[in-house]
Amino acid sequence: MKPRYLLPLALFALASFAIAKESATTQLTVTSPDGKNAIAFALEAGVPSYTVSRSGETLIKPSRLGFELKGHKPLTEGFVVASSETNSANSVWEQPWGEVREVRDNHNELQVTLHQPCEGGLKMVVTFRAYDDGVAFRYEIPQQEGLDDIVITNEATEFALAGDWPTWWIPAFEDNRDEYVYSHTPVSETKVVHTPVTMQAGPRAFVSFHEAALVDYSCMALRNVGDNKLKADLYPWPDGDLVKAKGSVRTPWRTIQLADTPSGLVESTLILNLNEPSKIADTSWIEPGKYVGVWWEMHVNRATWGSGERHGATTENVKRYIDFAAKHGFKGVLVEGWNKGWDGDWIQNGNEFSYTEPYPDFDIKELTRYAAERGVSLVGHHETAGAVSNYESQLDGALDLYQDLGVKAVKTGYVMFGQGIRRLDEEGKEQKEWSYGQFMVRHYQKVAEAAAKRKIMVVAHEAIKDTGLRRTWPNFVSRECARGQEYNAWSGDSRNPPEHESVLTYTRMLSGPMDFTPGVFDITLSTGIDRQNDRVPSTLAKQLALYVVLYAPLQMACDFPEVYEQHLDAFQFIRDVPTDWEKTVALDGVIGDYVVTARQERGGKDWYLGAISDEEARTLEVPLSFLEPGVSYEAQVYRDADDADWMKNPTAYVVESTKVDADSVVTVRLAPGGGQAIRFKAIDAVRLSADETTAK
Ligand code: NOJ
Ligand code: CA
Repeated sequence: MKPRYLLPLALFALASFAIAKESATTQLTVTSPDGKNAIAFALEAGVPSYTVSRSGETLIKPSRLGFELKGHKPLTEGFVVASSETNSANSVWEQPWGEVREVRDNHNELQVTLHQPCEGGLKMVVTFRAYDDGVAFRYEIPQQEGLDDIVITNEATEFALAGDWPTWWIPAFEDNRDEYVYSHTPVSETKVVHTPVTMQAGPRAFVSFHEAALVDYSCMALRNVGDNKLKADLYPWPDGDLVKAKGSVRTPWRTIQLADTPSGLVESTLILNLNEPSKIADTSWIEPGKYVGVWWEMHVNRATWGSGERHGATTENVKRYIDFAAKHGFKGVLVEGWNKGWDGDWIQNGNEFSYTEPYPDFDIKELTRYAAERGVSLVGHHETAGAVSNYESQLDGALDLYQDLGVKAVKTGYVMFGQGIRRLDEEGKEQKEWSYGQFMVRHYQKVAEAAAKRKIMVVAHEAIKDTGLRRTWPNFVSRECARGQEYNAWSGDSRNPPEHESVLTYTRMLSGPMDFTPGVFDITLSTGIDRQNDRVPSTLAKQLALYVVLYAPLQMACDFPEVYEQHLDAFQFIRDVPTDWEKTVALDGVIGDYVVTARQERGGKDWYLGAISDEEARTLEVPLSFLEPGVSYEAQVYRDADDADWMKNPTAYVVESTKVDADSVVTVRLAPGGGQAIRFKAIDAVRLSADETTAK
C-alpha cells in the first residue's frame, strides 16, 4: 500500500475536539473532518459510555462500554480517566484490487485511557474515530500487572438507538449461519442479528452496524435487549467463554456507518480504512478475474459431487469447461467433487475428506497440463463440512499440491449447522464450535496465511463475514456469507425473493466482496433434473446487471457452456465485464426495491452500469454525468424486452447500442424482477455534437 501524503492537521484537529470537565463527569468528543458526525465519550460516576450524533441530531443515546473478565472486577465501572490523546490523519492509499483504486483515509481520533483506582483495578483503553462516512471505536486491555490469562465473559458494549428504526436484518445464532432471507421490521421486532445490519434513522439518515479488523476475537452479533437498545453478543467457545487471550487483548472496531442515502453506505470506505495495510508486500500475483466450472450442475441435480455414473468432476467433463473458458477468455475453472470423501452423507462425514487424493476418473495432472496449455488454471476446492481439524491436519499438503499444480485460487467451504464445527482439542477430544467463534476466526486466518505463502487466493463459503481484512490479506479475495444463487437451485418456494439482491447491496455487501455466482441464463432450470419447483427469481438481463451491482474480484459465470452458447449476444456482456475497478459510483437505490451502480474498469476508459429491480417494474432516468466529459461512448445496452417478467417471460431480452456522452440521460426500464446492464465503450476523445447524441 502506498500512503501518498499524511498531514497532521494540528490546527484543524484542535478545533475538532471538545473537552468538558465537570466534577464527576468527563466528556470528550471527536468530530469527523466535515464536522457532521460526532462520537462523544463520557465518564459519569466512574461509568464509561458514548453517544453518537450526526448533523447535531442524536442517533445513539448514552450507551455502555466495557467488559466482564473471569476473576476480575467488571471493567464497566469504577473508572477514572488516566489520560486522553487526540490524533488526525489524511492520506490516500491504493487497493491492489477492488471497487475503487484509491481510498482516502481522513479521520480524527480520540484515545482515552481509563483506570480503576482500587485494589485489583485494571486499565482499559478506548479509541474513538470519526470519519465523514461514520464513526467507530475499539478497546484495548493492555498488558498490566495482575493480568495474565484473559477470559472475556461479557462484552458490555451497547448501541442505544434513538428510535425504533426500520431495520434490514438476518438472525444470528441459527443453524444456517448467515444464509437467511433478510427481514425488514422495526428494530424492536428483532431478537439477535448478524452484522452488517442496516437501519433507517430518518428520511435522510441511514445507519449500518458492523465490525472492522476481526482478528483473534470472536464475532459480534447484536442482541435486542429492549427499549431500542442492542448489545454486543459474542459467539462463545464450547465452554461458554467468549474470548480467550494471553497478556493483552485488542477488540475489532465497532463500526457505525452513517450516510444520507443508501448509496452513501455503498460508497463508504470506513471498514477498509480501519484495517491495517497489506501484510503481503508483492501483491502482483493476486489477479482478479472470472471463472466457470463444474458447480451449477450439482446444484441443479444434473451431476453429483460423489463418485458414480453421474460424477461431475470427470476428466472429460472438466476438459469441456476448460475449452469453453479458453474460447471465451475466462481464467479459471472451478471443479467441485474432485477429491475423495464425497460419497454418502458428506455433511456428516467431513472427517473422510482427503485434500490430496483425487477420484480415479479425475486426472488432476493431465487437466492441469491441458488447462495451462490453454491459458487457464483450475480453481481448487476444499469442502470441509465443518470437520476443521481434519482439514487443518492436511492443510499444508493440500496447498502444496495446489501450488505445484499452478492452482491460483481455492474455494473453501464449511457446510455444517449451528454449533457443529468439529475441533479436536489438545486431548484429542471432539469439541463443537460455532462457525463464528474465536477458534474459527483463527482458523480462517490460518488458511488465508498458509495460502498467501503459496501465492494462492482464497474464496470462502460458509465462513465468517469479512470485516475489511481483505486490505491486510488481499489474497483472501471473497466470501459467500449470505444466501447466494445456489438457493435458487434447490429451495423451491423458499428461494431468494426478487428483492434479495436489492437488500444484499445495502447490508451484506457493506462487509466486502461476495461470491454470489451470478449468470444463470436457463432461468427455469430446464437443464436440471427434478427442478419443477425451482427457478431463478430474475430475468436474464438482471443476471447480467448483477456482475456490476454485486462486487467480487473473482466472479463466476455459473451456467453451462451449452446454455451460454445459445445466447452468445447476451453472454458477450459477461465476457466483457471487468472484476477490478478504478471507481465506483452508487448512483441510486432504495433498500429492497432497486439499485443502480456504475463502475469504471481499472486501468481503462470504459464504464459499466448495472440496474436491478425487485418484483416491481420501474423506469428510471439515469444521468450519465459520471462519464468523462468530452468523450463519446457507445452504450452497449442489455435490457429486459418490453414484455419481460421474472415469472412469466424471464429470458426476453434486447441487446442494442446507442451513442452517449456525459450530458446524456438514459431511460432505464426494468421489468418485474428485471435488470439492465450497459457497457459504455469509449469511442474517442471528441465531444459529440448534440444531433449525434441519440439518448439525451
Ligand atoms: C455450499 C457452497 O456454498 C457451494 O458453493 C458448494 O457447492 C457446496 N457447499 C459444496 O461444497
Ligand atoms: Ca453456501
